[in-house]
Amino acid sequence: MFKLLVFLFLYYINEVEPTLQVKPTTGIPWPLPKSFTEYNQSMIIRPSIFKIKIAPDIRCKILNEAVRRYSAVIAKTVNALNSNSRYWQYESCYSGNNKSEDSVLDSLEVHFSGRCQDTPYDEMIERYRLEVNSPPVSKKAILTSRTVWGILRGLETFSQLIVPSDDGVSIVVKSVSVEDEPRFKHRGLLIDTSRHFLPVLTIKAIIDGMECNKLNVLHWHIVDDQSFPYQSELFPDLSEKGAYDPRLLIYTTTNILDIINYASLRGIRVLPEFDTPGHTLSWGPGVPGLLTKCVAIDDDYGPIDPTNDDNYNFLKQLFSEIANVFHDNYLHLGGDEVDFKCWKSNPNITQFMVKNNITTYEDLESYYIKKLLEIVQNELHTKTIVWQEVFDNKVKISPETIVHIWTGDYETEVYEVTKAGYKALLSTCWYLDHLLSGGDWLKYYGCEPLNFNGTNQQKSLVIGGEACMWGEVVDETNILQRIWPRASAAAEKLWSPKQDVVNITQVQSRIEEHVCRMRRRGIPAQPPNGPGFCIL
Ligand SMILES: *[C@@H]1O[C@H](CO)[C@@H](O)[C@H](O)[C@H]1NC(C)=O
Ligand SMILES: *[C@@H]1O[C@H](CO)[C@@H](O)[C@H](O)[C@H]1NC(C)=O
Ligand SMILES: *[C@@H]1O[C@H](CO)[C@@H](O)[C@H](O)[C@H]1NC(C)=O
Ligand SMILES: *[C@@H]1O[C@H](CO)[C@@H](O)[C@H](O)[C@H]1NC(C)=O
Ligand SMILES: *[C@@H]1O[C@H](CO)[C@@H](O)[C@H](O)[C@H]1NC(C)=O
Ligand SMILES: *[C@@H]1O[C@H](CO)[C@@H](O)[C@H](O)[C@H]1NC(C)=O
Repeated sequence: MFKLLVFLFLYYINEVEPTLQVKPTTGIPWPLPKSFTEYNQSMIIRPSIFKIKIAPDIRCKILNEAVRRYSAVIAKTVNALNSNSRYWQYESCYSGNNKSEDSVLDSLEVHFSGRCQDTPYDEMIERYRLEVNSPPVSKKAILTSRTVWGILRGLETFSQLIVPSDDGVSIVVKSVSVEDEPRFKHRGLLIDTSRHFLPVLTIKAIIDGMECNKLNVLHWHIVDDQSFPYQSELFPDLSEKGAYDPRLLIYTTTNILDIINYASLRGIRVLPEFDTPGHTLSWGPGVPGLLTKCVAIDDDYGPIDPTNDDNYNFLKQLFSEIANVFHDNYLHLGGDEVDFKCWKSNPNITQFMVKNNITTYEDLESYYIKKLLEIVQNELHTKTIVWQEVFDNKVKISPETIVHIWTGDYETEVYEVTKAGYKALLSTCWYLDHLLSGGDWLKYYGCEPLNFNGTNQQKSLVIGGEACMWGEVVDETNILQRIWPRASAAAEKLWSPKQDVVNITQVQSRIEEHVCRMRRRGIPAQPPNGPGFCIL
């Protein structure tokens, strides 16, 4: 800290030149828009006079809230930059921003031509157009979209164009023409609240970061072997006996609706995962007879007992409640890593298999998953996502089921899944819990979802991907720093058009800026590229 102060002091009095390893860009959005043209003359922005105006003036909760939120973000950004204006005056290499005699931008006009919507969904359109003091709209700024989701993404881009002017005297908005829409529809981040509980405020802070990176699905892996923090109204014993602490470390329906509302306002879906039949040890104490009893092996219990008909009745009631509480079009049903040794050890299971002509444990798992899918799809009318093992083990799944790919050689797996005609989601290359030294976001940036040898028809079945922040060694003390900006790499790969040639030096400069931008917004992103500093 002392060193930094000395450095800044010397720097202010212009005694030393800083040597940043990676020079941040100024006002280049992350993720990079589909089409982005910069012009020379920028415009001054002053929060005291600047307004975001919606035309026609319609009452739309998502838009009204967004105007409030982004007005605050813009004011916060301008104030943060202003408070360091001395710093910018000595910074000679920032370019593209003109002098203080630039004119002042008094408003961003939001031209919204669609219907109000209040719940984000899998097929929502996020396309928008943004013109700031460009040849067609000189001295004005206009954001246009037919959907509230497009307006949200465009406001985010606008907020990322605010930079110090070249001479450091004022804060300006860059002049640009932007035409933008995402490359993939499903751009997710998985959080895991079973291995460590995450407070509601931490989850909201994660959602803030997602908004800043244009991610649109919070995949909430809410329960697992270790703890069951979901408080069920129908089956309160599940969290009473399965949470780390049944009073403090749980999510009530009120908490969950609060999180869903917070995410919805930002155009982010909350996709719940209740993983079965494996990964369910914490369910056992609350529901006698649910789990398979193991015989003469070290474990006491194994996966859900697929031979007990009462279990399907329980699952139907529980999933019915879950579908109502979360009300997304999809439920993630898990289905990964089912450990067969407990099933193998139990003579009742063996007897059941003989009686039903089931010869392998994969087939027994299929028997279970098939019944669960029938319940969720046919009786609860909810679409489903499953982890890849369900496909690998050849469970008969309906054509609209999405297969979530997470392990093995992803190119082969994506090929096989799409060849069979299923939609695919990719996570294999975006496991945020797998740490390398350094910033290590570049390895996530290197992953190209369509890098497999399939037909165009197959490629069209890849609907997106998710960065996965498994919870074994993260909780509220470190999760934000571990996610950002590492998940930003996946966010850009999922939003921006595929580039045939990528200049990594430029990407490094952009993420360097993006990290400082997130910090100004209150998102504690870790340094991406080694030595350097952010002036807030
Ligand atoms: C910006 O100005 C520079 C020189 O002043 C010029 O070369 C460049 O073409 C201009 N760019 C645009 C987009 O007008
Ligand atoms: C800034 O504007 C001045 C005139 O207003 C012009 O001469 C100069 O080239 C501009 N600088 C850039 C970087 O466009
Ligand atoms: C097998 O089934 C019987 C009858 O339902 C039950 O009493 C017994 O506990 C079961 N054994 C195991 C190991 O699950
Ligand atoms: C059991 O399944 C096998 C193959 O899955 C099949 O050939 C056989 O006819 C079945 N037997 C009965 C009794 O259903
Ligand atoms: C991709 O498929 C084509 C045609 O089936 C084949 O010629 C080619 O060798 C394959 N490439 C790879 C990398 O598998
Ligand atoms: C990559 O971009 C940097 C900065 O714009 C530039 O200096 C460098 O020459 C570029 N490298 C290549 C290989 O184009």
